[in-house]
Formats: sequence, C-alpha cells, structure tokens
Amino acid sequence: MSEYEIDCEGIVSNEAYPPFKVQLASRVHRLPPYLFGRINTMLYEKRVLGHDVIDLGMGNPSDAPEEAVVDKLIDAARDPSNHGYSKSNGIRNLRREIALKYDRKYGVALDPDTEVMTCLGSKEGFSHMCLALMGPGDTAIVPAPFFPVHTHAVALASGNVIALEVANSDKFLSNIAYTCEHLYPRPKLLILCYPHRPSSVTVEPDFFVDVVKLAKKYSMMVISDFAYADVAFEGYQPPSFLAAPGASEVGVEFTTMSKGYNMAGWRVGFCCGNSEMIRGLGVIKGYYDYGMFQAIQIAAIVALRDTDQAVTEQARIYQKRRDVLCDGLKRLGWDITPPRAGMFVWAPIPEPWKSRMSTMDFAMMLLQQGDVAVSPGSGFGESGEGYLRMALVENEKRLRQAVRQIARCLEKAEKDYDGQTETAAAT
Ligand SMILES: Cc1ncc(COP(=O)(O)O)c(C=O)c1O
Repeated sequence: MSEYEIDCEGIVSNEAYPPFKVQLASRVHRLPPYLFGRINTMLYEKRVLGHDVIDLGMGNPSDAPEEAVVDKLIDAARDPSNHGYSKSNGIRNLRREIALKYDRKYGVALDPDTEVMTCLGSKEGFSHMCLALMGPGDTAIVPAPFFPVHTHAVALASGNVIALEVANSDKFLSNIAYTCEHLYPRPKLLILCYPHRPSSVTVEPDFFVDVVKLAKKYSMMVISDFAYADVAFEGYQPPSFLAAPGASEVGVEFTTMSKGYNMAGWRVGFCCGNSEMIRGLGVIKGYYDYGMFQAIQIAAIVALRDTDQAVTEQARIYQKRRDVLCDGLKRLGWDITPPRAGMFVWAPIPEPWKSRMSTMDFAMMLLQQGDVAVSPGSGFGESGEGYLRMALVENEKRLRQAVRQIARCLEKAEKDYDGQTETAAAT
C-alpha cells in the first residue's frame, strides 16, 4: 500500500480521485475582466525585445520623494523598536499630523483619535470601507467614467453599482437626486472623486454643499476619494468634501501620499471624517492587517510636516508636463482641454480614427506602431469609450518625443489605410 492509500472502504488509492479543482468564491467571478491586460502584455513583450516604450499608461509617479523623508525612513528603520507590529489605525502622531494638514489647508478640524485612520494606501482603505458599509442588496452610486476600484470594491462587498456621468456637475447632481427618488431600496452610498480620475473634471466648494444636502435628504453615506488633492495647477485649490458644512455627519474622505509626495510604493493613505464609518473601517482592518511599518509612519510625519513646498513644486512639474503634452497634441489637431488638476490628460480620440476603430484598438496601434503606451478610456467603463488617458509620469523631453512618435504612427497608419481602401476599391 502506498503512503497515499487510505485503508477504509471506498477509498483505495490516490489515483481513484478525480483531478483536483480549485473553486474560487463567486465574488471573484463578479469582477469584470481586466481591460488593460492586452496593453500590459504587449508593453511587456516590447520591452523584452528592447523597445524603448514611452509609458503614459499608469499613474505611477516616477519622481523621488524628498531626501529628508527618505533619510528619516532610514533612521527609523535602524531603530529596533520600530520593527514590531504597529497599530492598525496608525500611530497617533501620524494621525495628528494629517489632522493638522486638514486644519491648515482646508480649515477642517478633525479629532485624531476618532476621525482619522491611516490605511495601507487609500485603495486598501477604500476597499475595506466598502466591506464595512455594503452588503447584498445595497447599492452605491459611482462616478462614470470610473476608477475601477470604485466599482470593484463595491462588487467585492456584494453590493450593486449605478454609474452616473460626471462630465457636467449640475447634471450629475440632478441624476443622483433622480436615482434616489426612483430606486428602491434607495442607494446607500455615494462615491465621489474630485479632481476626477480619469476625466480630470473639477468642482468648486459649493458642489459639496449640495452633496451634503442630498446625502441628508436621502440618508445616503458619502465617500470622497481625494487622491489628487495635492496636484493642481495655476492657483486652483481642489476643495475638500469635509470642508462642506455637515460633511462629517454623512461621510468620509480618503487622501494619499502616493501622488503629491511621490510615495506611491510606501502605501500611505488616510481616511478622515465620520467617526462611526471610521470605526467600522477599523473593525474590518483589525482583522486584516497590523498597520503600516512604523518607520514609514514616522517618515510620513516628516513629509506631512516639512515638505509642503516640495508638494507645490511637484504640482508645478506636472503642470509643465501637461502643457508640453497638450500643446503637442493640439498641434497634431487633437481637441484637448488641459486639466486644472490631477496627473492625467483625458484626450478625445481625433477623427477619422474615432469612427474607424475602437478606443482599445487605437491604443494598441499607438503602442504597437508608435511605442507609446496609453490607457484606453473604455477601461474606465462604457462612458470612457472614445477617449485616451495619458499619465504625466514621463519627463518633458520624453513627452515631446511621445508626441512625435504618435504623429509618425498616425501618418503611417493613414497611408496604410488609404492603400487598403484603394486596393479594396480596385478588386
Ligand atoms: C482616484 C484614485 N484613488 C485612489 C488611488 C489609489 O491610491 P493609493 O496609492 O493611495 O492606494 C488612485 C491611484 O491611482 C487613484 O487614481
């Protein structure tokens, strides 16, 4: 008898079993296919072949954090007392520091003990907040086009999603009201994201005053994703949802050190606002993580306290890149509206290409023939079809080069298209 054989009736040997089948939970199947997969595969293959692809696909900052912040991380990592499990809601001095930033930047008073929580990046916090708030039969309104996490975190929490267009803010608000009036049971959660990703739509403080009124009228909680709070241009100051009167009664806001502070890999985010929602997030997080590496938390304090100037300077760098890319694309005849904030240009695909092919195929063509990677708008839902999202994560020289490569790619594609049309006409 082999070591796998079990001496009992009906079970003779290992070979008698059917092939083992992993059965994933239904929540995994609720997620839609990953639309950027084709682009990422080709990007990888091109790089393996030695192509110097200019990557404007992912909003992954390429500049370094401030030296003082990195030095503090090194110092703190050398201290043995920082290597144990930390607190899952973050050390108090870090929570106090983000409360101080809210006070000085937005005039919002927060209690660091009950109204602030640290997260392992805002994406983690956002997803777990959805788990704390949503369940089967619950519905969330999300802005469309959407940051995939906004819809998928709701789906993972077994909730349903209604996606409403954000392009026109007044219409967005009236569509929210209409949905609340007509949907039963009413939406439980409203997810907002301004400066909006991917479309770069921005709002003024009054917008959030109306949001709080709607939230109270329809008993709907609010999550504001404020990831691009620190990246704004020409004096525009993106407003905080929490600065609207009564906002903390109905919702929370997520911020991050990934974008303005160039600390994306560090995974430092915050959830601030309604203490009961934050308590719920804390309960979920308490079962999933032991908090952020303490040395990172200590260095993040230095970043929040001492590097406002560098954050402003980083925004200026994005502004210059925005100008280079927008001016270049405009010269090619593209109809571009330069964004007021955020790290992206949301570019309508110009004709005749828009009528000839899907957004995905256009993006694939730019990558295949032009060595420029961009995100097809359709990856952000149906309402992104016809647009490309271009991340300002390459330097100005590389962005100029990207425009030249796009121009050459489209010129050649136009000639090929004319040639094919002539051949088709002749046969
Ligand atoms: C709108 C939006 N929210 C949240 C995030 C996630 O940020 P974090 O790095 O803090 O998880 C991103 C990252 O790209 C984002 O674009």
